[in-house]
Amino acid sequence: MKVELKLGKVEELKSEALALGLFEGQGFSKEVRVLDKKLEGALSLLLKNGDFNGKLNQTAVLYPKDFEPRRVILVGLGKKEKFNLDKIRQAGGTVYKKAKELKIKNYVSYLYGKGQKGIDFQSCAQALTEGTLLSSYHLDQYKTEGKEELFEVDSMTIWEEDKTKKGAIEKGIRSGEINSWGTNLARDMVSHPSNVMTPGKMAEIASSLSKEYKFGFEVLSPAELKKLKMGALLAVAQGSQQPAKFMVMEHMPEKKRKGTVVLVGKAITFDSGGISIKPSEGMWEMKGDMAGGAAVIATLAAAAKEGIPVHLIGLVPATENLPSGTAFKPGDIIRSYSGKTIEIISTDAEGRLILADALAYAQKYEPRAILDIATLTGACVIALGHVAAGLLGNDQRLINKIKRSAQKTGEKVWELPLYEEYDEQIKSDLADMKNSGGRPGGTITAAGFLKKFVGKTSWAHLDIAGMDWEEKGKPYIPKGAIGFGVRLFLQFLRDWDKR
Ligand code: BES
Ligand code: MN
Ligand code: ZN
Repeated sequence: MKVELKLGKVEELKSEALALGLFEGQGFSKEVRVLDKKLEGALSLLLKNGDFNGKLNQTAVLYPKDFEPRRVILVGLGKKEKFNLDKIRQAGGTVYKKAKELKIKNYVSYLYGKGQKGIDFQSCAQALTEGTLLSSYHLDQYKTEGKEELFEVDSMTIWEEDKTKKGAIEKGIRSGEINSWGTNLARDMVSHPSNVMTPGKMAEIASSLSKEYKFGFEVLSPAELKKLKMGALLAVAQGSQQPAKFMVMEHMPEKKRKGTVVLVGKAITFDSGGISIKPSEGMWEMKGDMAGGAAVIATLAAAAKEGIPVHLIGLVPATENLPSGTAFKPGDIIRSYSGKTIEIISTDAEGRLILADALAYAQKYEPRAILDIATLTGACVIALGHVAAGLLGNDQRLINKIKRSAQKTGEKVWELPLYEEYDEQIKSDLADMKNSGGRPGGTITAAGFLKKFVGKTSWAHLDIAGMDWEEKGKPYIPKGAIGFGVRLFLQFLRDWDKR
């Protein structure tokens, strides 16, 4: 699906529908009043009858007389006081779904809320593009039946009368397209089942993206990992028939801002728990335990595609976690890439093990910042549900930067404290540390474990355990893989040298 821009008068629009947003409990703006006149008062009438009051994501369709486009899709923008960029995304997604339901190939959309609450035209166009393209995501290659019913909207055209806004809107569309493309790419990887999305398959995808978008790519396979002594990653991989992969990606822009950023993503393509096996109910969801890795691969590709001026490294350790006669076992003591030894309490606390090796490996780039992203702990789902990702780290400035990026992209994050006191829980009698601190503060003790592998580097960790899979469907997040983190990372990188 495409997003385009059309400048000019509403009369000149050739399209199947015009989408328009209205605030809850507000009079019409000047522009809407003009339009209402052209619609012979149909908008006033609709509101007067109380069938539509502008509640967020409410919709109504009008079929005005003697008017082109012949349909008007109205979407509620909610209360003006609560309006922000995310409401534009939501309205964009809601209208897309309505248009799809009506089997409309092309529709024109007003830039909802432009100029409101300091929202400039560029951000507004970006948010509208994102809401639309993110909402249009679907993966139907596994369906052999019912394919005739699948309908695709071809394009959404942003309509603007003010010709001086062309440049800003086009820039917004471009960033919105890249953000959505990256997010949908990550969603694809997460949606595919683990019999397809193996560590090898993820490496293949990353490799072909690197060729298309020109970024560096290297993959380390078990023999090389053994040579490097990546003992923690190899321990987790030991029970699986699928060879582990350690992906190293590099985006080296022509013009670059100071410093290197390393992104690290957990890619357990299936987490059964290993010998410390998980209960069977809901275990299938653990195909999504590579969502962090998918976000990192997609971010690298999108950053290279856009040419974001930051030197960026992506590290993705990938393996399955399965029980077998060769699997690692509770009580085992392993030696990680850093040299630190780890006593395995639970083979189900595998994510922090593969991240430990990747975080230690990241040191060789002497990065200005390391950000890792992982579906790391069930405890994070208990703490924050499916609303926000956990955010922890060793540098408050970096954490604050991430919070600001998240605020802009509408991906919610919530900081948890990384107090030293929690370290007690992962002390081992035999080794340098244990891989599980038990149930209390599980998200924090997991982050405390990771902290031991980043040295003095500025580091932040996103626990996205509750954010990999959407159960019900939201205005611009269809049921299924969410693709959390890609837009956040891209925003973070675009703002890298701000403040
Ligand atoms: N991948 C899981 C965490 C997870 C749980 C992600 C639910 C998404 C939804 C992780 O590898 C895991 O199993 N963590 C254990 C750690 C424990 C053994 C210390 C957990 O959270 O139970
Ligand atoms: Mn696990
Ligand atoms: Zn896991």
